[in-house]
Amino acid sequence: MSDTSAPDFRAQQWWHTDIIDMRPGEIRYRGYPIEELIGNVGFTDMVWLMTRGELPGRAQAALLEAALMSAVDHGPQAPSIAIARMAVTCGSSLNNAMASAVNVLDDVHGGAGEQAVELYQSILENQIGGRKLEAAVEEGIASWQRERTRIIPGFGHRFHPIDPRAPRLLELVEEATARGEVDGNFVAIAREVERQLIAMKGKPIPLNIDGATAVIYAELGFPAPLARGLFCLSRSVGILAHAWEQQCQGGRNKGPMPKGWLWPYGGPAQRPVPHRD
Ligand SMILES: CC(C)(COP(=O)(O)OP(=O)(O)OC[C@H]1O[C@@H](n2cnc3c(N)ncnc32)[C@H](O)[C@@H]1OP(=O)(O)O)[C@@H](O)C(=O)NCCC(=O)NCCS
Repeated sequence: MSDTSAPDFRAQQWWHTDIIDMRPGEIRYRGYPIEELIGNVGFTDMVWLMTRGELPGRAQAALLEAALMSAVDHGPQAPSIAIARMAVTCGSSLNNAMASAVNVLDDVHGGAGEQAVELYQSILENQIGGRKLEAAVEEGIASWQRERTRIIPGFGHRFHPIDPRAPRLLELVEEATARGEVDGNFVAIAREVERQLIAMKGKPIPLNIDGATAVIYAELGFPAPLARGLFCLSRSVGILAHAWEQQCQGGRNKGPMPKGWLWPYGGPAQRPVPHRD
C-alpha cells in the first residue's frame, strides 16, 4: 500500500488529471496515443475528447464543428475584436492581444450562450411530467425574467434584423434530428421561445448566434459553463486573425474612436480650481 503522507505520493497527486498521461517518449490523451490520434482525429474531435472524455461520433463532431466555425468573427464592431486590434497598436504581442480580447468575453459580450443553455435546460426540466412545450417555455421565460433579467439570452441583435447564422444552424440541427442523431428537444424549445418573445414584444426578437450555438451545445449534452469556453475557443480564431492583420497593417496607439471625434461631455462647465485651506 502506498504511503499517502510520503512526499513522492503527495507530489504525484498535486495535479491529478484524467486528461493526459505522459512519460518520456509517450503522450496519451484520455488513453489514446498521440501518434494514433495525429492524422486520424481533427481539431473539433480533439476539443470533444479533451472536454468530454471520449471521442465524438461523426454526426456529433459535425454539429460541434458547425457551431465552432459559425461564431469565429463579428468584425471590429465586437468589443473583443476591437480590443485585440487596439492592443496590437499599443505594442502588445499576439498572445497579449488575444488574452485581452478573451478577457472581455464575459457575462454580457460572450456569456449569452452559456445563459441560453441554462435557460433551455430549465425549460426542458419544466417539461418533466408531460407539461406541454408552450407552458414550459412560458414558465421558463417568466422565471428567467423574475430571477435573472428581463432580457432573454440568445435572442435579439443590435445589428442584424435576422442573424444569418441562426437559421442555418437550426436547419442543421433539424436535419440531424430527422436522422435520429440528436433528440431535437432544444431546437423545439428555442423556436418556441422565439415565438413567445415575438408575441410578447409585438416585434421580432429573433434567435441570434449565441442562442443558436447554445441549441447545438445543449443538444450535444455540453454543460452550460462549457458553452462559454467553446465560444471563447471559436472567437479566438477571429481574434487571432484580426490581431495579426493589425500587426501587419501597423498603426500605433489606435483608440476606440477616430482622431478628431470626441465624446459628449456632461460634467460641470469650465471653472476655476478653488482655493483650499
Ligand atoms: C442584443 C441586444 C442587446 C439588442 O438589444 P436592443 O438593441 O435593445 O434591441 P431592440 O432595439 O431590437 O429591442 C427592442 C425591444 O426588445 C427588447 N429586447 C431585445 N432583446 C430582448 C431579449 N433578448 N429579451 C427580451 N427583450 C428583448 C428590448 O429591451 C426592447 O424593449 P423596449 O422596446 O421595451 O425597450 C439584446 O437583444 C440582448 O441583450 N439580447 C440578449 C443577449 C444576447 O443574446 N447577446 C448576444 C447578442 S449576439
